[in-house]
Amino acid sequence: MAVCACSRKSEEDRFIDDLLSRMTLEEKIGQMNQLDPSWNAEEKEALIREGKVGSIFNIVGAKEVNRLQRMAVEETRLGIPLVAARDVIHGFKTIYPIPLGQGATFNPELIEQAAQATAKEAYQYGIRWAFSPMVDVAHDPRWGRVAEGYGEDPYLTSVMGAATVRGYQNDQMVNDQMVPGMAACVKHFAGYSASEGGRDYNTTWIPETQLRDIYLPPFKAAVEAGAMSLMCSFNDLNGLPSSANHHLNVDIFRDEWHSDALLVSDWGSGSDLVPHGLCADKKDAALRCINARMEMDMQGNIYNDYLTELVNEKKVNEQMINACVRSILRLKYRLGLFDNPYVPEDTPAPGDAELALRVAEESAVLLKNNGILPLNDQIVLITGPLAHQKKEQLGTWVFDGDTSLSITPLMAFEQMVNGICPNGKLIYEPGLTFSRDKNPVGIAKAVAAAKKADVILYFCGEEAILSGEARCRANLDLPGAQIEMMDALVATGKPVVMIVMAGRPLTIGRQVDQAAAVLYAFHGGTMAGPALYNILTGKVVPSGKTPITFPKMVGQIPLYYNRHNTGRPSYDPPMLIDSIPIGCPQFSIGQSSYWLETPTEPLFPFGFGLSYTTFEYGETKVCQSERRSVSENGLSAERSVSPKDGLYTVSCTIKNTGSYDAYETPQLYVRQLSGDLVRPLCELKGFQKIFIPAGETRDVTFTLTDDDLGYWHESHDGLSSRVWFATDDADFRFAILPYSQPLVPKDK
Ligand code: BGC
Repeated sequence: MAVCACSRKSEEDRFIDDLLSRMTLEEKIGQMNQLDPSWNAEEKEALIREGKVGSIFNIVGAKEVNRLQRMAVEETRLGIPLVAARDVIHGFKTIYPIPLGQGATFNPELIEQAAQATAKEAYQYGIRWAFSPMVDVAHDPRWGRVAEGYGEDPYLTSVMGAATVRGYQNDQMVNDQMVPGMAACVKHFAGYSASEGGRDYNTTWIPETQLRDIYLPPFKAAVEAGAMSLMCSFNDLNGLPSSANHHLNVDIFRDEWHSDALLVSDWGSGSDLVPHGLCADKKDAALRCINARMEMDMQGNIYNDYLTELVNEKKVNEQMINACVRSILRLKYRLGLFDNPYVPEDTPAPGDAELALRVAEESAVLLKNNGILPLNDQIVLITGPLAHQKKEQLGTWVFDGDTSLSITPLMAFEQMVNGICPNGKLIYEPGLTFSRDKNPVGIAKAVAAAKKADVILYFCGEEAILSGEARCRANLDLPGAQIEMMDALVATGKPVVMIVMAGRPLTIGRQVDQAAAVLYAFHGGTMAGPALYNILTGKVVPSGKTPITFPKMVGQIPLYYNRHNTGRPSYDPPMLIDSIPIGCPQFSIGQSSYWLETPTEPLFPFGFGLSYTTFEYGETKVCQSERRSVSENGLSAERSVSPKDGLYTVSCTIKNTGSYDAYETPQLYVRQLSGDLVRPLCELKGFQKIFIPAGETRDVTFTLTDDDLGYWHESHDGLSSRVWFATDDADFRFAILPYSQPLVPKDK
């Protein structure tokens, strides 16, 4: 925010101390309640007037928000303003690609701009608090909420999550007017994405080392970026649901990270402690939540109902209530709500369609191209259930998304076909009308239309409702009759370019083999159509990279790039089921780690994406700037250089060897080959998205400190701590690569 941190701190503290000292217990508890949107209008207003509401939720529109705000400011004893919250997830009226697609951009600066534009749009509708970004690192594409995060990698997720926090929260000048930031709410704290079997809301079992190395870093990065709030998760983590998890909420979030951000429950996650089987009743749930410092209760109403009683019974200390209310008042203070509780009621300005276009362009990943792309002046058939679906291309969680703003691929081609493909002609025949459609008549029509075309553009994938919260899938194939439709289109002999719009990686291996080219677009938002048009016709060169591993089949899940090697890695090539001799002795076909139906290789690895040009990567050069001194037990080495000095400098030269100027994203991977714990096959430690004109070369350099190479380690005295395992340089492999690949020792 704009105010200097030091002066703000004392002023802020003085302000909050004073206010808190004047509040009754009931007023404090009222602040801890986020209004259940299901109350009727009269009930809502009564609760606000009685001072029993700290935040309103799902109320949109400057006039209505201001009306309720006036009740809080003018009609309650202390006039404490409300804060209006909303699930602003990937845009407001103007929708950006789903966060998984945003991850594919590998462009945090762009994502920060998108978040800033979103905050500006949401502000005009009264919204000051967004329930995003979701930074749950996800290894399981069956889990529907994989769409809402930035993929499988803790580093990429950290960078993107922090960019979103900055984008939302920074004040911005718009036409000489200051638009204040919108508070981010980083969710879901923690471990939610590790739900068993990819089933939403399920149990998670995460050892402390994995929690610290994989799941928590993006939350920590968001806290360091100044996130004003975090949200608890629904899952139980090693048997303890997050809303009642003192270790997460106090030991780590408060005591270790020293965060003063607000911690809000997820929707009823406090009252859910009863069905979880942790608490006997809602009163018990309120007790467990407050003792684990869940500070605001979203929707569940357990604090309003039971906290006074619990304080009077001396089961809850009022100091704990004060600590929670302090966080709530702090968020409101930092948003400037005490000075400016109201939002302007002017006609909202349109969102930034140009920016949405750029993000959509950068989020599409070219997975295959036999040379057919970019298109030139062919006659194209536009077909498939997602070619012209204004709503579906927006993806999940778009409560305020304005479908009338959407430009579909069909619309983009119709508007522009005479521009970029001067002689091109267009035929449209959708075939199937929605992604689960199984109507063979439509397919026959598309096949007939294909006969008149040179190229088939097949827009397939998933409708928006098939991903997102509680939308998990056990089968990741293209739904409905889309596979049959692909077979029928391919059988025409015309080249098929497959454009996949989906909320997750789908198991499309056979279709990839059949297709002439495959462009994976996720759900690209309002401007998905023009973005895809620009890429397919070569106006824009694709630059997206997969933010998550694409499995070949569901049975491979979980499959992620930064896994361990095992003591018996898969042979190359492994013996698959059909080649096993009948009646052979048990171990005669070897013992290695793979499935009989498929090797461990994914369909596409993390970080993968083609371009219309080609890049040649030079050798990775590593320079160790200074040696460290190593302590005797080898575990907690003292540093002889400041982390800022850099420990390793890793560089390489990349040449654009093709004929298109283009962006490329060199990725720095590291593996520790030996040490006190087994470490992943490779881990992303940095990336840069750089523009390289055709024929030119660029150098990239990354600097790594020991902190970048450290990992969570259970120390010998039984206390967990993150320590640097010092070892000699032969223990590490560094590689700058175009996508993730297991790093093996030099002599292997
Ligand atoms: C989701 C959250 C969301 C909240 C409010 C919950 O069901 O898990 O991500 O922010 O609802 O809509």
